[in-house]
Amino acid sequence: MSVDSEKLSTLLHETRSFSPSDEFRAQANFNDETIYERAANDPEAYWALQAEQLTWFQPFENVLNWEPPHAQWFVGGKLNAAYNCVDRHAVGPRKNKAAIIWEGEPGDSRVLTYDMLRREVDKAAHALKGLGVQKGDRVTIYLPMIPELPISMLACAKIGAIHSVVFGGFSSKSLQQRLEDADAKVLITADGGWRRGGVIPLKANADEALSATKVENVVVVRRVGDSAGATMQEGRDVYWHDLMAKAPTTPFEAEPMDSEDILYLLYTSGTTGKPKGIVHSTGGYLTGANTSMRSVFDIKDEDVWFCTADIGWVTGHTYIVYGPLSAGATVVMYEGGPDYPGRDRFWEIVEKYGVTIFYTAPTSIRTFMKWGPEHPAAHDLSTLRLLGTVGEPINPEAWMWFHQHIGNERCPIVDTWWQTETGCAMIAPLPGIVPTKPGSATRAVPGIDVDVVDEHGQSVGFENGGYLVIKKPWPSMLRTVWGDDERFRNTYFGKFEGIYLPGDGAHLDEDGYVWILGRIDDVINVSGHRIGTAEVESALVSHSSVAEAAVIGRSHDIKGQAITAFVTVREGIETNQELVAALKQTVVEKIGAMARPEEIIFTAELPKTRSAKIMRRLLRDIAEGRVLGDTTTLADPSVVESLKSQYKEAD
Ligand code: WTA
Repeated sequence: MSVDSEKLSTLLHETRSFSPSDEFRAQANFNDETIYERAANDPEAYWALQAEQLTWFQPFENVLNWEPPHAQWFVGGKLNAAYNCVDRHAVGPRKNKAAIIWEGEPGDSRVLTYDMLRREVDKAAHALKGLGVQKGDRVTIYLPMIPELPISMLACAKIGAIHSVVFGGFSSKSLQQRLEDADAKVLITADGGWRRGGVIPLKANADEALSATKVENVVVVRRVGDSAGATMQEGRDVYWHDLMAKAPTTPFEAEPMDSEDILYLLYTSGTTGKPKGIVHSTGGYLTGANTSMRSVFDIKDEDVWFCTADIGWVTGHTYIVYGPLSAGATVVMYEGGPDYPGRDRFWEIVEKYGVTIFYTAPTSIRTFMKWGPEHPAAHDLSTLRLLGTVGEPINPEAWMWFHQHIGNERCPIVDTWWQTETGCAMIAPLPGIVPTKPGSATRAVPGIDVDVVDEHGQSVGFENGGYLVIKKPWPSMLRTVWGDDERFRNTYFGKFEGIYLPGDGAHLDEDGYVWILGRIDDVINVSGHRIGTAEVESALVSHSSVAEAAVIGRSHDIKGQAITAFVTVREGIETNQELVAALKQTVVEKIGAMARPEEIIFTAELPKTRSAKIMRRLLRDIAEGRVLGDTTTLADPSVVESLKSQYKEAD
């Protein structure tokens, strides 16, 4: 594997360390450091204790059945995720507590108490059931960040239907692929969504995607109104509001789900062109989400929690919906862009609602840095007490900026490493216990066993980089890849038997802290979004002018990584700016705007080994302007020289 040695040596020079204040430690939910040892000695007992924070209709008999690579957690237990996130709080002292404080991009807002949320979820569950949705059916949700999104997810959970949320930034082609793979019965979408004052035409995208699928009904939320230009298809499409108005107002009885029943699918990129439907269970997933809210995020009843992710990604699933709501917290949910109408929108929201815990991505922090500290300085951020980051390694300068300008040098920062597949934060400090170091996600949370190993699965110790691995099963781990258990086995358990391979490179320092070095496979992390090189390559090759394409991620100041595409065109095709624009547009149409290549370099040939493998490392070296390493395995060394000069021209 290739570990970036330059990066490794910069990281190793990071010596700053920040200990929790006595004040923070004293009030923290988790402040006894023996928890690590106790959980390591008996992880099953630790997780069973955590699972008891949930409400079970029927208690579990067995904590874990582990037949690698398949784990079953809390076997025999029955519960319902929506019941745990809503109903149980809608009785007793949290009944009138704000569950969701929603802020629309144009400035409208809506507050749903736990009792109000229960009514909405129950009506939606009745309505979906009325459309024929049954336990185990798949419902695809393609919505902007509006309250109907969590309401739809929870309504599915209440019925026992499996939701598959598709991020609103995905194109109709991507939506179609996901609808087909999940074999969805119903699609829930909106006429459109607001983004930086413009409209994303969700319904029009959905119509295009639906032509070839078996979807029976489409439920359409009116968010934007006439300017979205949405049209309805008689017999198939129905407005959300009409359905909800007709739905019974009686309570909807939560389906008692087996702990191992599927709660949801969420598609993510891998090494092949086809996204994987990651399968999450009910009992284990919810236990992981709930535990991390209390441990890593120190959630309390008084907190106002703001996670800036989109629910279309796993961060939003776990830390806008299932984690905070299962903990009975107050969640701030924001619909739009961080710079609309001004570059202080997030800080305005923090001040307006008295946000206490703020969770965001390093790419956003780098953007805030670029915009300047005057934007947060213009607002009262004194309610904040804890900050968090996720999505990619945070560079120490961005960490320090976050610490100074947002946290006022007072709030601990939890850098949380995890994945769609892991379900919840796996490597992250417990903020009342673990001293932090800028750039490191610190150590595995209690009950999680990670290591860094070499090609043979041997621990590498403190000197070298290696493969990050998770050595024992954990409750919120993915159960399989939807419809493709073989791919699940090969991708995650194919290299080391019974040991989970996340696909990240890492290094341990002498204190045992983990420093993530980035992906070791062909996955690019653009602004915290996982994009498979193969997906972008097949989008490019689908264009009639393209013969071959190789896509790599190069480092980028704000996005972390940016996509560079090297393209060979077919005989007789002219390479010009129009073609560049057309190719970028093809990728946007096939995947979505977040996968648009930053630059396209035309080349007569791609550098290949004698066995005809494209040398991506070399392409990355060229794109990042580095001195080239070993090129002796190249079939035709002159390709590199001509590429280097072309790359300069494209600059
Ligand atoms: C990367 C997002 C370093 C990593 C929750 C992982 C991180 C991939 C961090 C998962 C972090 C996420 N430090 N790298 N704190 N958090 N990553 O599935 O490469 O969208 O494998 O899940 O993001 O991305 P995913």
